[in-house]
Amino acid sequence: TRLDPTGAAIVTDGNVRPYAVKVAKAIKRVGLKTSIHAIPASERSKSMTQLQDVLSFLERQQIDRGGCVIAVGGGTVGDLAGLAAAIWQRGVRLVAVPTTLLAMVDSSIGGKTGVNGRRSKNAIGAFWQPSAVISDLSAIETLPIPSYRDAFAEVVKYAVAMDKGLFDLLQRNGPRLVERDAAMLERVVFRCVAAKALIVAKDERDRGPRAILNYGHTAGHALEAATGFRVTHGRAVAFGMRVAARIALALDLCSKRTVDSQDELLDAFGLPDKPPHADPKRVLAAMALDKKARRGKVAWVMPRRIGHAEIGHSVPAPVVRRVVTRSLA
Ligand SMILES: NC(=O)c1ccc[n+]([C@@H]2O[C@H](COP(=O)([O-])OP(=O)(O)OC[C@H]3O[C@@H](n4cnc5c(N)ncnc54)[C@H](O)[C@@H]3O)[C@@H](O)[C@H]2O)c1
Ligand SMILES: [Zn+2]
Repeated sequence: TRLDPTGAAIVTDGNVRPYAVKVAKAIKRVGLKTSIHAIPASERSKSMTQLQDVLSFLERQQIDRGGCVIAVGGGTVGDLAGLAAAIWQRGVRLVAVPTTLLAMVDSSIGGKTGVNGRRSKNAIGAFWQPSAVISDLSAIETLPIPSYRDAFAEVVKYAVAMDKGLFDLLQRNGPRLVERDAAMLERVVFRCVAAKALIVAKDERDRGPRAILNYGHTAGHALEAATGFRVTHGRAVAFGMRVAARIALALDLCSKRTVDSQDELLDAFGLPDKPPHADPKRVLAAMALDKKARRGKVAWVMPRRIGHAEIGHSVPAPVVRRVVTRSLA
């Protein structure tokens, strides 16, 4: 695909600026002008204030409807720059250059962009698909260990919920992946992207089957909220998958072997590294809040067997209470 843009504006964050500089050099080599805007590296940068700054940058760079925005960074940069691309001139092209493993396997795919509201995560956003996603695995080398490890929660999520082949690959190659073996990582990233793209193609606007990507996120989000986000997303999702599988077992929806193999795989990637410290009551309360938002119904994603999960299960409250309380003991 040739993009042939009339201009290119690069958005990045302070930590990954060197990667953005490389991208800028490559763009200049083909005779196109470009410039870099670096936001502070923080989730707090997903704000209306930073969005305004990015839009002003695009204005200064005179990005017209033939131009494009290039997001070089993790999910934070991708979500913010993606939203700016979605609304600048009513939409200009977006190229994602993810530099975290999470962004490569998850956030750069699927077209969800956005910033946070004052109190609510990802409250302001748009669906805006990138014209291209360019993942250079060499960027992973400089990624801090916790960020690398956390991304495997989403990787295991794809494997358990929809890709048995990926599960087997992960099982056989845990140590190589922990060592960040590039060839193995490439296979894993490829399969995750394929899995996500398949679902998104069926349900871009997230009104049906895309909900399968929420596997592990029901209890996971509640744990994040209940701990004031001290437990990171990846760890929380790992916890959430352990909870979901135990609920599925209690409801006779999956076998004990399924629960055990998922546990073993999460253990192999150090997820979570230790059991999360949280008051079960708070976690359950956070889940109830989530519930109100969706008219009193939590739709659980339940694993039936490795590689296959189902959406839209309702679970009796006492079962949830029992499993969450035990999982936090
Ligand atoms: N749009 C979606 O579908 C989607 C999906 C999942 C998550 N997200 C969003 O993504 C965000 C999290 O993204 P993330 O996990 O990529 O984190 P991030 O973008 O916040 O990056 C984490 C940290 O790592 C640094 N970093 C990035 N790449 C690096 C590299 N190669 N070497 C060294 N340091 C590097 C960053 O500067 C930052 O300090 C959240 O805001 C979340 O809501 C969006
Ligand atoms: Zn997630």
